[in-house]
Amino acid sequence: MSAHQSPAAAPSTAGTLSDDGAPLAVLGHDVQVPLVSGEKVGYAALDYAASAPALQRVWDDVAAYAPYYGSVHRGAGYLSQLSTDLFEQSRRTVADFLDLREGDQAVFTRSTTDSLNLLAGVVPAGTRVFAFETEHHASLLPWRRHGLTVGYLRAPRSCAEAVAALEAALAAHPEGPRLLCVTGASNVTGELWPVAELTEVAHRHGARVVLDAAQLAPHHRVSVRELDVDWIAFSGHKLYAPFGAGVLAGRGDWLDAAEPYLAGGGASRTVAREADGSVVVEWHRGPARHEAGSPNVIGAYAIASACRALTEAGFDALEAREQRLVERLKAGLAEIPEVRVLSLFGADSARVGVLSFVVRGWNSSHFAAALSAEYGIGVRDGLFCAHPLVRTLLGGEDAAPSECGAPEPSLPGERSLNAIRVSFGAGTPDEHLDRFLAAVRELVTDGARWTYRSEGGRCVADTRRERA
Ligand SMILES: Cc1ncc(COP(=O)(O)O)c(C=O)c1O
Repeated sequence: MSAHQSPAAAPSTAGTLSDDGAPLAVLGHDVQVPLVSGEKVGYAALDYAASAPALQRVWDDVAAYAPYYGSVHRGAGYLSQLSTDLFEQSRRTVADFLDLREGDQAVFTRSTTDSLNLLAGVVPAGTRVFAFETEHHASLLPWRRHGLTVGYLRAPRSCAEAVAALEAALAAHPEGPRLLCVTGASNVTGELWPVAELTEVAHRHGARVVLDAAQLAPHHRVSVRELDVDWIAFSGHKLYAPFGAGVLAGRGDWLDAAEPYLAGGGASRTVAREADGSVVVEWHRGPARHEAGSPNVIGAYAIASACRALTEAGFDALEAREQRLVERLKAGLAEIPEVRVLSLFGADSARVGVLSFVVRGWNSSHFAAALSAEYGIGVRDGLFCAHPLVRTLLGGEDAAPSECGAPEPSLPGERSLNAIRVSFGAGTPDEHLDRFLAAVRELVTDGARWTYRSEGGRCVADTRRERA
């Protein structure tokens, strides 16, 4: 790339689905991992809901930009100007990707958790925040701060029940500022939430809505304009752009009225010393107000690159392919009577490529450890940072597991206090799901070939002890 060529114009690779609907190119697709037996196999990454692999396209774009890396909003040099332009262009790309409205702001953050904590800090004092108890902790917990009241809504068993519960809650609390925080797709069940319907109810009652799109944006086209939500939050690392950035986007009024998230350079427009020795600060309005410090330009650029890649691949094609894999997975698991798939809204509810289950007679941590150690398949076990939801789905077990993890101790054969989650997306080949289903069948039928022990709260294969 010449110094006069914008990195954004660098040739892109692997941005579109091939004619046969092949997955998008991602890093790590050819990584070999060791099995407990000492053999090596290709890693089957089926934990996209935690962190998705980087798109090759994102990696290439970042690599093309890296030599031109410079400071943002603070430098007269060519590379500083280029980096500043790239950062602001990335913001516009994200705004297009989310279909933001005129006047909406897109603030770069570190993650969805960071975005929701930022929003919680700008919500006017006295606001009543509503959240279903089924939310990820990032959506459930930031509101528990001085000046706000949180109303947790019980786990609904259908989309209609969710809408009715919100309607009743808002009717019971008609006064003052109110905010609903709701997920677009559950990180546990993958089920889609009725965001547009909930938003219609909220707005009719004068309440606002923030959408946690951490699990929605990687799988679905999201239009803030059409959904009519007031804010949206998502993370780069779940959108194939693992460079430490996230986004909070939406209405500017509360954002501009509040103190900056971080106080410091970049957020301040002027800082003046008064005659009496005090310092008076005028803060920026707009995204800069909440982006103090040197921004993560690589993270922002990576997100923009992922937004472009997904848009060019086309969400219609991506969703069609993913839904085919979802159906294949559901059908395969349905043939194994010991497997119980977890669902809030019923087996036929619409979902993205995220599915959790338990296996009769198995501790979930043991099962997930065997999938990894004996088959090279990476899934997640635990309560997925959604403890109330998983406990509801498991039938109200109230034993205390470790945060985001397995119960202590996680020994083979114990009853399931947690679940197993398989998740996938635009980079997943069919073969990974086929291998996963074959491994589940074999484990259920024949049991694990190795013995497992608990180590630091995790179930690990005991490399000295293959079962007879
Ligand atoms: C639905 C949902 N919301 C929020 C988060 C938090 O995302 P992050 O860890 O990137 O802040 C996650 C992460 O798993 C999630 O699945």
